[in-house]
Amino acid sequence: MKEKLEEIKAAALSALKNASDIDALEDARIKFLGKKGELTAVLKGMGALSAEERPKIGALANEIRSSIENHIDTKKAEIAAKLEEAKLKAEVIDVTMPGRERETGQPHPLTKVMNNIKDTFIGMGFEIADGPEVELDYYNFEALNIPQNHPARDTQDTFYISDNVVLRTQTSGVQVRVMEKTKPPIRIIAPGKVYRSDAVDATHSPVFHQIEGLVVDKGVTMADLKGTLEMFIHRLYGDDTKVRFRPHHFPFTEPSAEVDISCFSCGGKGCGVCKGEGWIEILGCGMVHPKVLANCGIDPEVYSGFAFGVGLERIAMGKYGINDLRLFFENDLRFLGQF
Ligand code: PHE
Repeated sequence: MKEKLEEIKAAALSALKNASDIDALEDARIKFLGKKGELTAVLKGMGALSAEERPKIGALANEIRSSIENHIDTKKAEIAAKLEEAKLKAEVIDVTMPGRERETGQPHPLTKVMNNIKDTFIGMGFEIADGPEVELDYYNFEALNIPQNHPARDTQDTFYISDNVVLRTQTSGVQVRVMEKTKPPIRIIAPGKVYRSDAVDATHSPVFHQIEGLVVDKGVTMADLKGTLEMFIHRLYGDDTKVRFRPHHFPFTEPSAEVDISCFSCGGKGCGVCKGEGWIEILGCGMVHPKVLANCGIDPEVYSGFAFGVGLERIAMGKYGINDLRLFFENDLRFLGQF
């Protein structure tokens, strides 16, 4: 029996020596020390031993058990250390490597100018109104006093979705939508994209942005219009900028005017930017036509109002000294990063 035990010990130690991972260790433990293991089988046969031999064999068996257990523990620690080392090697981080720079973005120059303009009007008590870019002919033309076959339609040729649905050529349709729904006093600006069937060049794009303003209340006069626009222009271009109102025609305002400002480049002397004129046209405006008020269910005998419309791109070009509209839409970061 003693030999049998020594044999088990030798076999166990050699199995442990060769075990290369935790699974193999566990297999060996079960094989030699488990309930149905070889050592246990020997111990079960101890009943057949003499009373003298039993304690000796018992002691030897215990010694062998703890020796095998010790070997298992040692080997386990060895394998764990090896695994840990391999893991550390695999996950090594080279802290001397240069980092990856993340570029931070910034608002598009048009967005900047748009926000600027919105702030100015919000400061004067205006609210921001929105309307659809795909618009009914009625709101884009008809309700604004531009009936079918009116020559003003020629200057605003657009993209037709169907006979009576167009891509809006101006944000003026929002005037009508707001007046239909809201009782005066009304004080809104309507910023947004507009579309015209124009070929692309340095000053034309089939899509651009307008900001339309509308004020309707009792007793609104041309003086309110002038004061509001002068305030807006001074905020945008500085207090020294001169403002000139020049008579004009829009079907939806009467009287109508175009507004020029003293050239932001030469201050009015005449230069390449203002084509020698000293003035630059920046917006259209006027007193809302009584017919338009009536079209929207507002009594022109009681209420009056003014409206104006500015092109965002033109304002931004002036503000930043940009001479080609296309730059706004090409999304070249070398250009956009400058603002
Ligand atoms: N919507 C006009 C345009 O696009 C501008 C405008 C708006 C003029 C409001 C007068 C009043 O040309």
